[in-house]
Amino acid sequence: MIAQKHPMNNISVNVAAKVGTSLHRYSHSPLCIVKRNIESFCNQVALERGETPFTIVDDLSPIVTTKQCFDDLRVPPDHVSRSSSDTYYLSDTLLLRAHTSAHQCSLMASGETSFLCSGDVYRRDEVDASHYPVFHQMEGVRLYPDSAFPPDMPVDERKAVIAADLKDILSRLAVHLFGDVEVRWANDYFPFTEPSYELEVKFNDTWLEVLGCGVIHDDVIHNAGLPAGQLGYAFGLGLERLAMVLFGIPDIRLFWSQDPRYLDQFQEGNITKFVPYSKYPMCYKDVSFWLPEDYHVNDLHEVVRAQAGDLVEKVEMFDEFTHPKTGRSSQAWRITYRHMDRSLTNEEVDLIQVNIREELTTQLKVELR
Ligand code: DAH
Repeated sequence: MIAQKHPMNNISVNVAAKVGTSLHRYSHSPLCIVKRNIESFCNQVALERGETPFTIVDDLSPIVTTKQCFDDLRVPPDHVSRSSSDTYYLSDTLLLRAHTSAHQCSLMASGETSFLCSGDVYRRDEVDASHYPVFHQMEGVRLYPDSAFPPDMPVDERKAVIAADLKDILSRLAVHLFGDVEVRWANDYFPFTEPSYELEVKFNDTWLEVLGCGVIHDDVIHNAGLPAGQLGYAFGLGLERLAMVLFGIPDIRLFWSQDPRYLDQFQEGNITKFVPYSKYPMCYKDVSFWLPEDYHVNDLHEVVRAQAGDLVEKVEMFDEFTHPKTGRSSQAWRITYRHMDRSLTNEEVDLIQVNIREELTTQLKVELR
């Protein structure tokens, strides 16, 4: 299905190969350990508050429709997240979910009133230690029954009650995960929640974004087929981001490592500090070119990913200029190669670099210099 040829299909073999792996369900993966930890915390809070428990959903297919991923959530038709340089499409209407929010409406429509939905999500993005085309998110939703509010309470006040509950629960979650940290709330914007907030925690002296959340937008409730006046909250968080900080995992590719020095470090149920082991040596190659008219930097990263797969550690621009006479622009990029689990040979890196140069010319229409 994923390899199916449709003119819109922009899913590389490497990315297609990851679909179905479901790292968030391997009990020894730090992603699963963090996921279960959050699930049990949320359900303990639900129990304390006398609310229905959250249904745990973690096996939904990552292939969703544009309606689920964008339309139902009020993502505007011209929003960048819909573009083929940001999202992996199978066809004009099917894609690899870019966030777990894609399941909000369908789960609510199926009658779920409180759920935690986790899964692998896919985005075309830069290549560096914290970005990988596949990562994992958890989406939380709770709908409030009418009986949760005094009958004459106006809608705005009901929403304020929900927002206050949400902030209280999630601040407690942050302290549960990170220990005695400072937390702060900022107003944010997401098309599917109103109001929307972002939670940050101060960890090792830096403010770290932990999650986005808010009161579910009235239109989203409508798109799920629920009656007007139904209220609730939603939140979404990235499991890699949390696990990297909590376990001290320095590179996002490690989550996919098959090296026993990585795999053997984690036990079900325990958040423990990752003990780094010596890395295999790196090497780098540079490439520079004149830009074509229509150029998206994510496409460059994607070409490198498609050719180099997990051998690439970082892709960074080190020079850029515009020719004063012709007005043409040129960029120079450094590609750093290193495998997490083995050493690389010169020959294989050279071959990959040749392929990258070729694909940059044919796919991106750049002029190599
Ligand atoms: N889907 C958002 C993202 O991927 C995260 C998010 C933000 C989810 C706010 C939510 C929410 O449910 O209310 O960045």
